[in-house]
Amino acid sequence: MRRPLVAGNWKMNGSLESVRSLLDGIGRGVGDVKSAEVAVCPPYIYLPEVEKLLSGSDIAWGGQDLSTESSGAYTGEVAASMLNDFGCKYVIVGHSERRTYHAESDQLVAKKYAVARAAGLVPILCIGETLEEREAGTTNEVVARQLDAVIALEGVDALAHGVIAYEPVWAIGTGKTATPDQAQEVHAFIRSRVAEKSSEVAEGLRILYGGSMKPGNAAELIGKSDIDGGLIGGASLTAEDFLGICTAAD
Ligand code: PGA
Repeated sequence: MRRPLVAGNWKMNGSLESVRSLLDGIGRGVGDVKSAEVAVCPPYIYLPEVEKLLSGSDIAWGGQDLSTESSGAYTGEVAASMLNDFGCKYVIVGHSERRTYHAESDQLVAKKYAVARAAGLVPILCIGETLEEREAGTTNEVVARQLDAVIALEGVDALAHGVIAYEPVWAIGTGKTATPDQAQEVHAFIRSRVAEKSSEVAEGLRILYGGSMKPGNAAELIGKSDIDGGLIGGASLTAEDFLGICTAAD
């Protein structure tokens, strides 16, 4: 059995004050979440505060990105060891916003995946197609290419130490969710692609869905056999919505 994971991707949102009140709200309700694992990924700058507030709780935390380099003259970058310094368990790599606005290639994302793993972090690898690619019928081709870049660099066993998030770009922050069947179809494809290399890794691999997941659609999505939780943007910014998704994942 794969344990469901619900991870909040706060993106570049919040303030010190809102981080405190959001975590307070999540902390009050998280006791009702029975089986799902819960995690939050705040902006880097709030990681010390998040660590202070969540240490000893059942909620894990992580970064939204990391550098491929370990230290040095890389202005604005944050190294894996720095995420470790603040107790991160997870780190998101290859989010579509990074791929789009920061021109991150499949190869760069694969390198980030490898660096995260080497540091003992659990990478959450985001993959997914744009609307144009979906309409052109190339969804499987695109997610396979993004996935294969990691397998080519690291071997399939690397996926035993990570999490995949299938996030159709057209569903992110748009209010347009993939239907449970549409999502399931791609999740099953991703799992079968991994199974070609290792059925054991494929069976244990958690594949999250991301893209306008809300309390109202979470149960139906996560109820699908190959959907093992969610990577939540907008709805992770209010405790009530985020907890609603966490309990749906139960
Ligand atoms: P959304 O974002 O839930 O706001 O669509 C998901 C994500 O980008 O991870």
